[in-house]
Amino acid sequence: MRKVLVGTVAAVVLASTATAVAVAASGDDSATESPAYLDASRPVAERVDDLLGRMSLADKVGQMTQVDRSAVADDPKALAEYRIGSVLSGGGSAPPNPEAEGWADMYDTFQRAALGSERKIPIIYGVDAVHGHNNVRGATIFPHNIGLGATRDPALVEEIGRATADEVAATGLDWNFAPCLCVARDDRWGRTYESFGEDPEIATAMTSYITGLQGQNVLATAKHYIGDGGTTGGDDQGDTRLSEADLKAIHLPPFAEAVRKGVGSVMVSFSSWNGQKAHGHKYLITDLLKGELAFTGFVVSDWAGIDQIDGARGFTAEEVRQGVNAGIDMVMVPEDYRQFTQLLTAEVEAGRVPVERIDDANRRILAKKFELGLFEHPYAERAPVGTPEHRALARRAVRQSQVLLKNDGNVLPLKKDSRIFVAGKNADDIGNQSGGWTMTWQGKSGPITPGTTILAGIREVAKNVTYDRGGEGIDGSYDVAVAVVGETPYAEYEGDRPGGLTLDQEDLQTLSRLNKAGIPVVVVLVSGRPLAVPASQALLAAWLPGTEGGGVADVLFGIAKPTGKLPVSWPATKDQQPVNKGDGKRPLFAYGHGLSY
Ligand code: GLC
Repeated sequence: MRKVLVGTVAAVVLASTATAVAVAASGDDSATESPAYLDASRPVAERVDDLLGRMSLADKVGQMTQVDRSAVADDPKALAEYRIGSVLSGGGSAPPNPEAEGWADMYDTFQRAALGSERKIPIIYGVDAVHGHNNVRGATIFPHNIGLGATRDPALVEEIGRATADEVAATGLDWNFAPCLCVARDDRWGRTYESFGEDPEIATAMTSYITGLQGQNVLATAKHYIGDGGTTGGDDQGDTRLSEADLKAIHLPPFAEAVRKGVGSVMVSFSSWNGQKAHGHKYLITDLLKGELAFTGFVVSDWAGIDQIDGARGFTAEEVRQGVNAGIDMVMVPEDYRQFTQLLTAEVEAGRVPVERIDDANRRILAKKFELGLFEHPYAERAPVGTPEHRALARRAVRQSQVLLKNDGNVLPLKKDSRIFVAGKNADDIGNQSGGWTMTWQGKSGPITPGTTILAGIREVAKNVTYDRGGEGIDGSYDVAVAVVGETPYAEYEGDRPGGLTLDQEDLQTLSRLNKAGIPVVVVLVSGRPLAVPASQALLAAWLPGTEGGGVADVLFGIAKPTGKLPVSWPATKDQQPVNKGDGKRPLFAYGHGLSY
């Protein structure tokens, strides 16, 4: 964790450090030349004013520019040449060495290059650490948000925010594009698992994640503003058709609470509101978020989000102007930074983007960089990831996220000395139990990072366990069968399922084979959302537990009782979508349902 030093002694240390940086900056060895903005003992507002007063238009436009690491990996010097304010790792955009050390080396390389600019303004580096530092091999992977929503435990989620921040900071990074505060209203949406649930009350409560993350000096991001989970048909990046009253009732409360909790950044949604792209929506970004909610952090676009304003590929001067004038402070370009900086500079010089708008954006961005202590501590303060403490926390979160939907004949909890037959493609697969946004953007099946599969967790407890993925060899001699089935990884629009939500053919065949054996069958569903599942004696929603699959076994054997409550209504059929609390429909299991032992 990057520690922001406090107290007088530290202030002296900081001042001398700042002076050293100033000397390097000015090339002048008369320490009295140190500019005010490098004096950490001064108020942030004063430092912002001083720095802004020294910045050229090129400096200011550069600060509003965010590039993916891939765009500058071969030419880090471009960061100083174009005065780039931020670098990000988009989903899966990782250094050649995906271990923590490789990330920290990459961060320091970019930071050293950026500090070569005249004003020596450090970059802020953003990453999607949406369920732990999920890009780094060996990091702790926590349950995805839908499972955390099932815990109804904001204090737990705050702890996860803290642990995630420590692992992000351990690789040098300063900014997490999390939490997603989307309110998923149609489970066919490919990002349902990134939502804490269908009712804004859960996401509002789970803004505790922001407190945890920012308490450890990593900037949080409330995303995606606004209405990403409310699109018609669950169409990712589609259109949310709602009255203003309903938009504010369903999708705004988590953002209002995030602002109240001091969230440092807000990311704009790709989606539209009644046909107008959020990325160009001045009323939503400036009047509502920055005005009515009094948000004082900075607004970042989503990946090439301004390109979508006019519906055509690429971005134009008009889209740059519309996005920045709507209130976007930092543009996730993320590749063609030369074209972007040129267009925005021209728009300002032509008077079509007011200098006041540029200065407002820079004030917002620079204030966060000063608050994070980036000027004083620009480089990675390395530390381990995937620590036993964090994995224990993740295992606790997995336990608390399990929702027991059905338990006919009290077939659960399992007995340790039973003869247990385990089947299913998701029983022994870290990649499948982690889901999307894990090591790569889409995630993938297989042993992609160190962890405990659900099967390994079961074998930690019981000694008489047989596993066959398809259920081959099952017969009546076993006491119980456990089928771990569900989804394989996906992210964003790749996960949209307009055709309905059901198990795949492999899982259906596995279940059919097990059911013929005439013994009790427990279904453990590893998925990012509810699916239609054939009837079985017991049904446990495990969601996407991440690396600590032992937490699922803990509940299966009663080492921990199931306490999870449904964060989403469970549809009665594969096509019953949308289905939400209070909509008059009859789900199979209602929002809030959850059994125990
Ligand atoms: C993606 C996602 C957003 C993410 C960003 C950077 O497209 O919409 O959630 O933070 O790009 O990876």
